[in-house]
This record gives sequence, C-alpha cells and structure tokens, in this order.
Amino acid sequence: MTDQLTRRAAVGEDRRRADGRLKVLGQARYAFEQLPAGAAYLVPLLAPVARGRITAIDAAAALAVDGVLGVLTHENAPALPEHARPPLRILQSPDITHRGQFVGGVLADTPEAAARAAGLVRVEVDAAAHDTALAWDHPDAYVPDTVNPDYPAVTEDGDVDGALASAAHAVDVTYRTPMHHNHPMEPHTTVVTWSDAGVELHESTQHPHGVRATVAELFGLDPETVRVVAPYVGGGFGGKGQLHAHAVLACMAAQTVPGRPVKLALTRRQLVPNAGHRTPTIQRVRLGAEADGRLVAIEHDVAEHTSRITEFAEQTAVATRMMYAAGARRTRHRLVALDVPAPSWMRAPGETPGMYALESALDELACAAGIDPIELRVRNEPETDPSSGKPFSSRGLVACLREGAERFGWAGRDPEPGVRRDGRWLVGSGVAAATYPVYRQSATARVRAFGGGRFGVTIAAADIGTGAWTVLAQIAADALGVAVEDIELRIGDSALPPASVAGGSSGTTTWGTAIVTAAQKLLAEHDGDPPAGAEVTADAPPNPHADDVAMHAFGAHFAEVRVDSDTGEARVARMLGVFAAGRIVNPRTARSQFMGGMTMGLGMALHEATILDHRHGAIVTPDLAEYHVASHADVPALEVHWIDEEDPYVNPMGSKGIGEIGIVGAAAAIGNAVHHATGRRVRELPITPDKLL
Ligand code: MOS
Repeated sequence: MTDQLTRRAAVGEDRRRADGRLKVLGQARYAFEQLPAGAAYLVPLLAPVARGRITAIDAAAALAVDGVLGVLTHENAPALPEHARPPLRILQSPDITHRGQFVGGVLADTPEAAARAAGLVRVEVDAAAHDTALAWDHPDAYVPDTVNPDYPAVTEDGDVDGALASAAHAVDVTYRTPMHHNHPMEPHTTVVTWSDAGVELHESTQHPHGVRATVAELFGLDPETVRVVAPYVGGGFGGKGQLHAHAVLACMAAQTVPGRPVKLALTRRQLVPNAGHRTPTIQRVRLGAEADGRLVAIEHDVAEHTSRITEFAEQTAVATRMMYAAGARRTRHRLVALDVPAPSWMRAPGETPGMYALESALDELACAAGIDPIELRVRNEPETDPSSGKPFSSRGLVACLREGAERFGWAGRDPEPGVRRDGRWLVGSGVAAATYPVYRQSATARVRAFGGGRFGVTIAAADIGTGAWTVLAQIAADALGVAVEDIELRIGDSALPPASVAGGSSGTTTWGTAIVTAAQKLLAEHDGDPPAGAEVTADAPPNPHADDVAMHAFGAHFAEVRVDSDTGEARVARMLGVFAAGRIVNPRTARSQFMGGMTMGLGMALHEATILDHRHGAIVTPDLAEYHVASHADVPALEVHWIDEEDPYVNPMGSKGIGEIGIVGAAAAIGNAVHHATGRRVRELPITPDKLL
C-alpha cells in the first residue's frame, strides 16, 4: 500500500497556475485552436422534430455549393456496433428520438461553405407524437434497478409512516428543479484526422483515455492506433466526461477524407441537445422530528427524466441516506423515459438537486419546530454513516457550521421571516449543508529521473480549468523530495499512462495517488537516489479502505439575500462557504474551485433553467441569451474558507475532492434566505421575480 505523503513542502502551498501565463497569453492551445494545414470543416444537421422518421433527404443543392466535400446522412454513414451507447449510435437509421439530434453533417473546405450548404439540405420527416413533460404521477414512471453510479434505487429502513404519524413536528413538501445545462466557456470541439496509420483527435474532454476507448470500440480500431490530445480544456462540469455524438459525427466525416483534418465546433444551439444535461427533478421530502428536533423519519422520493433510448438514473436521493441520523428512512427514485436528449453528468449530479431539496426541507422543519437551523443540523449529526453503518473517515460538518456561523455573524439572528427591511428591500439570511463523496478510481503514472534532481512525471490526466497542471506537480515534488520547479509534468494525452476521468471530484485523489505510488517505487528501487534514465510505471488501485470507512467531504453555505418588495427581484448580497475537504493541496486553485461551485449554485438558485416547449419538444433556451448563468454583477462578496482536516484514509495526500461540493447545498442556502427575507417559500427553482410577487 502507498505510504502517506509525509513531506509537505509543496502540498499546501499557495501557487500560481502552472498554465496561467500560457492561458493569459493565448498560447495554451485548445482543441479547436489547432490549425492543421488543409483542414475541412463540418457543420451538423439537426432533427427538426422530437420524434419521428426521416422520409427523405435532398442534398443536391448543398452538394452544388462550391467547396462542399460531402453530405453525411443515415443513408451513407458507416455502421456502428449494436451494443454502442444509444446516444452515440447516430445516423444508423431514419428514426428521430429527440429534437436537435444529429441527423447528418456537411463537410466543406471552409466553415462558410459548410454552413451555407447545411442550410440548403432538405430533411423531410414524418413526425410522431412525442412526450417531453416530466410529471409526478406520469403513467410511465418506473423504478430503475439502480441509480448512478451503482446505488440501489430504493432504500427503506424502519417504520417511516408510523414515525411520521406520531412525530411532534413534521413537514411534507415537494420541490422542483428544472433541466440544467453545463455551459462550459469552451463548447464541445473536435479536430480529427483519420488515416491508415491511425486516428488522432484533439478533443475538448475530461477523459482522454475514455475517448480513446470509446472511439476505438465504435469504429472497431485497436486502441493503440487512436490518440486523444487535450492538454487544455475550457471547462466541462461533467459535460465532457464522456464522449458525445459530435465526436462520432466528426470521425465519420473524417473517414471520407483520409489524412485530412476535420474540424467541428458546436455552437451553443447544437451543443444543448447533444452533449448531456442535468435532469429536471420533482422531489417530495417528508421529515418528522421529536419536540427537540431529533429526526424520527426522513423520506425522500424523487421523479426525474431519462431519454427513451438510454437510461440515465441520477442518484438524487443518495446523499439523504448519509447526511443525518434518523429513526426511520425511506428513499426512492423513479424515472420517466421521454423524447428528450440523453441526460448526463453535471457538477455533483444527484447531490446538487437532491441536497437542494433536503436542505430546504430541513429549513422548513427548523421553522416549524422553532429551532435554529444550525442547531437542528447539529442535533441530527450521526455517529456513523447511517447508510452503511461504517465510521466516517472524517466528518467536518459541525465544524463547518460552527465556523461559518462565527464568520458570517449568525449569532443573534431573528428567526422571524419577512420582517427586516432596508428601504424597499426585504433582507434575510439562510444556511444549508453540503456534502460530496470521496471517489477514488485506478490510474497509472510514470516517473523518470532526468538526473540532477529533476524528474519527468506523466499521466493522462485532464486539467479542465481546475488546476491539475499545478497541483499534480506539487504532489510529485513532495513525493520525490524535490522542488516543484524540478518536476516536468505531462498530462492531457492518451499516449501517456491511463488516467481516470476528471470527474466525480476524483481527479487529484486518483492521479495524485498514482503519482505518489510511482515516485515511492522509483525511490525505493534506487535507495532514494535514482540515476538519470531510471524510470518506473506504477498502477494505483481504488481505495483499499472503501469497505471499512465512509469517506465524504462536508461544508456549510451561508447566504444573505435582498428581495425587492416591488419587483420580486432577489439578489444575493453576501455568500460564505466553509468546507471540510481534507488537506487542501493548493489554497489558490482550491479557492477558485469552491468559489466556482458556489457561483454555479447561485445561478441554480436564481437564474438557470433549460425550458422545453412541450408542444414541440423543443428547448427554447438553447444559448446564453436565454439560459442565464450568473454574471459578475450577480455575484457579491463571496467568501471561501476551510477547516484543516487530517484524513489518513482518503489518499496519500490526505485530500478530498473539491470540484463539486461548492455547488451542493448552495441553492438551498439562498432559497432559505429568500424565505427568511420574505416569508415566502418558493419550492421551484429558479427563484425568479414572478414567483415572489
Ligand atoms: Mo463531474 S459532473 O463528475 O465532471
């Protein structure tokens, strides 16, 4: 087993981003910024209905446009294996399974010619009746076998109904969250060159080896002949965790022009129906408590959508199984398969909508019981993980709540809602808890001694803007006993040793463990002084303690909001988060991660919604003009803190994932503050002015 990292000269140090200068200078080349000679350009064609069948495609006018190289449709596309993930099996039949689905593509010498010709392709369809509307009592709702990644869909422990019936205080409330979209700054892009020698993709991805494996499998290639390069990625939030259909389309087009690079950059409108989204949810939460606030029962019942062609079962109620002690507990997920694009991962999938509901309901219980919401949470702190009975490797929730209360100025808060005014603004504050599991996967790293105390460290990790370039060098430096400047790191290329996805907040944990493992092995093999040229490659397995302890990060969000009593506009005046996430490897990049998550939580609370027009099965918020993300003007003083936490179980660095926990619970803190300000409990996100008037 890997030893804990004991030298901490670099780990914990506030360091600038290793790639910051290149990014600021525009010299960090993103996928579409590859400028290979002789590139051809691909523009996709989108399905005009939500369900139906293509009856004819007339490409004659498009093919007549100067510079057009071809029009790809289901009539001429290469066959893909039957067992491939259905959302990737594009152009295999005339069937349309969601509006905006790729039904073809136009390839041309210039982007202008491709775009013009795409507008000339006539796609005729027989539309069929469709259904895109999630409803609590939808007749097709069903309980899946499991929810992501492999949790039971239903759990039941104790007599929930009996406990609720005799509880001193109870709430029975239903929350709704809308469909959400990952909108990374860099949209999905692919530059692919297909030749007899192999396939090279510059792909904006969170997982170079995952893309390599999927492309090889889809097209029947030896994975060794596929190379995926992604040194810089402009955000992903889960949306680039798996290969999506655009890359399949690009590979199909590239096969028609062997040796010639094919470039595809999705517009927001093309991205929205084809690169995953967060499912909408309807969540009923029932809580029962003794007079002193101790929970006797928790029920969390969820309805969410999936697509008709593939099952994606978000784990919305899973965090409810481990957050608080309770005498009885029931959780259930139901899915409705609709004519919608396939849902996928979006920052803390499951925890984000699920903890919004749980933490809002807890606030409602605090109000009903007349107990301070922080005190209520502290009284329900479990001794061991309620879902497994295992001890927690470390659990810093109470410490985060206490420290946050102190820093935010919670003491003496008047719990009475709707009574504080500053002119026409109603003012209130709210709190909510956060949690996220510590996932650890397997990965491989290679370390090579260059001599003179310098080392090369390689692993196919992906830096999606999170700081992997920076923190992995810090970890390697301590593992090898040298300065960060003596580490030459290479990541973001499937030609390097295999690494897991930059997802599930597992990147630093997983890749760092592999790097420490390889470094310790190299030093051990050479009595601590490897000569120039000495090299080892080492695998790091998943966490060996996973069966013995429950590993989670925790946090607490505090928000102060002001609501305009005339217009209903809610604004966040102040936001403060405290996190317990093990050892912080780099305070600067960590702070940005937490802050980014909290900002996304603010967007979730007040702005973000993907809206479907169910009459047409169409997303009517397909770009950033309609899908509102928080802008600088929306984000106030936002404070991030953390508590020091020693956790010997999670990994050699003692760090927990920080990429996702910042968003978990943030929307609930804001919603709870809106209630405190106005006395109005809005149970449907986002909290737009119309809901407060
Ligand atoms: Mo994250 S949604 O696991 O990339």
